[in-house]
Amino acid sequence: MVLSADYCRPDENRPRVLVGSDGLTGGKALLAQAQPSMPQHSPVRRGNIRACRRFLLQVASPGRHGTIRTESPKPMPTRNMLRWISRFGQAQPEPPPLPAAPDPAPMPHEPAPSPRILLLGAEPRAVGLIELYRLVGHPDVVLADRRPERAGGDLIGHRVLNFDEIALDRLVATIVTEDPIRDYAEPIAFLRDKGLSPAQVITCAEPGRAHRTLTGLVPASDERSRQIGYRAVRQNLFHRGHYAYCMVLAAETALRMSLSKVTIVEFGVWYGAGLNNLCEIADFLQQTLGVEFRIFGFDTGAGLPEVADWRDHPELWGSGTLAMPNFEKLATQLPPNCRLIIGDCKNTLAPFLREHGSAEAPIGFVSLDVDQYHSSVSALRLFEAEATHLAPVIPVWVDDSYLNVLQTSYAGEGLAIREFNERHPLRKIEQKIIRTDDFPRLWHHCIYFAHIFDHPVRQGKAPARFDQFYHTNY
Ligand SMILES: C[S@@+](CC[C@H](N)C(=O)[O-])C[C@H]1O[C@@H](n2cnc3c(N)ncnc32)[C@H](O)[C@@H]1O
Repeated sequence: MVLSADYCRPDENRPRVLVGSDGLTGGKALLAQAQPSMPQHSPVRRGNIRACRRFLLQVASPGRHGTIRTESPKPMPTRNMLRWISRFGQAQPEPPPLPAAPDPAPMPHEPAPSPRILLLGAEPRAVGLIELYRLVGHPDVVLADRRPERAGGDLIGHRVLNFDEIALDRLVATIVTEDPIRDYAEPIAFLRDKGLSPAQVITCAEPGRAHRTLTGLVPASDERSRQIGYRAVRQNLFHRGHYAYCMVLAAETALRMSLSKVTIVEFGVWYGAGLNNLCEIADFLQQTLGVEFRIFGFDTGAGLPEVADWRDHPELWGSGTLAMPNFEKLATQLPPNCRLIIGDCKNTLAPFLREHGSAEAPIGFVSLDVDQYHSSVSALRLFEAEATHLAPVIPVWVDDSYLNVLQTSYAGEGLAIREFNERHPLRKIEQKIIRTDDFPRLWHHCIYFAHIFDHPVRQGKAPARFDQFYHTNY
């Protein structure tokens, strides 16, 4: 049994505790351990024993509280305990000094890790990639962080190195798995300063490049590739998971109709972050699911058109804002399967549908991000296209529908959708929150679906199996 120091200080308003141990031997050992750290006024120390004894007699004597409880099988009488404490309260002789330890043998020099692929950013998506691409323990892959507070530890069982401990001589690529703050500006600048070329830097906004690089190291069979395609999107491993999610649905719809090509439209491009991302996701899904994508980006090139009235949300958007910085330059940087269509979509949509409408590559996903009501009304005319040029069901990303308290179905994009539905008995656009069974995200609320009820598939006139959608299998 050990009498705690706190118990022995009646002058302080502290909890009075008797710390018991399994019998006297354990108690002695604990007391011996506790002694060096006990404060000087502890009654267990020499000179304070009397205070301790007085206290025990006053508070814990058998006459007032019965026997003092210990964890030993037999309660210890107070008298014995006082004797025991007195003995241990005496000054203990100093233990003889330990002989000096010999100098440790010098450690053999451990070479710095020299990976071919470096995942930069201790974030869960890095672990997701390591596990999905079967890179666990791969000698050519390391996970590292440039931020000292995140490096040097462990992330869900994966070691996180400090970037500066890594040799870069064999490095093929760094995949930036940090959060995409300001389009990864900081990590990109950091890697440039460390001497990496742009070809060695891949961000999570570039799943096509990332997949090519990772499967160059650990090849994947066709079936494995399909798994990677579906699972990476379900697990939200790449940037703009909402676009990826809708594009998987578009690809899957095409496959269900025995088509190998599908068309994607983004209304509102601004400086091209979303459009570039669409191109990268398309590249990734073409490699993994084998579906090709045509991508079209619509923008005035000059920013938002004139605000007409309250329906255009003048409190949120100003005329001429969000102008494309340089659409000629952006156009030259896009891959061959992507085109920019510059001008107000009020004027450019009809010629586009005439020129590019196709039953072999129907429109399978639409991003509606033109902010204002009048622009949205123009954009939604896309859903008046020839039925076979549309997929029977089309995910629609309604960017300005949910995340701001001012957004409503009585103004802006929401009003345009409501009025569209009122005008079209066989074409309806409706919010649908799916996949809440796992990985539900805030952005699920911005996903709508356009239902083309006059499509041959929805009329039962064309074969297509929609009974088992992708997520039931992967
Ligand atoms: C919010 S930005 C788009 C951002 C982009 N979707 C992204 O995620 O990177 C909105 C864009 O819509 C464009 N826009 C608005 N009304 C339009 C219209 N009637 N026709 C074509 N573009 C329009 C504006 O020029 C503006 O750049």
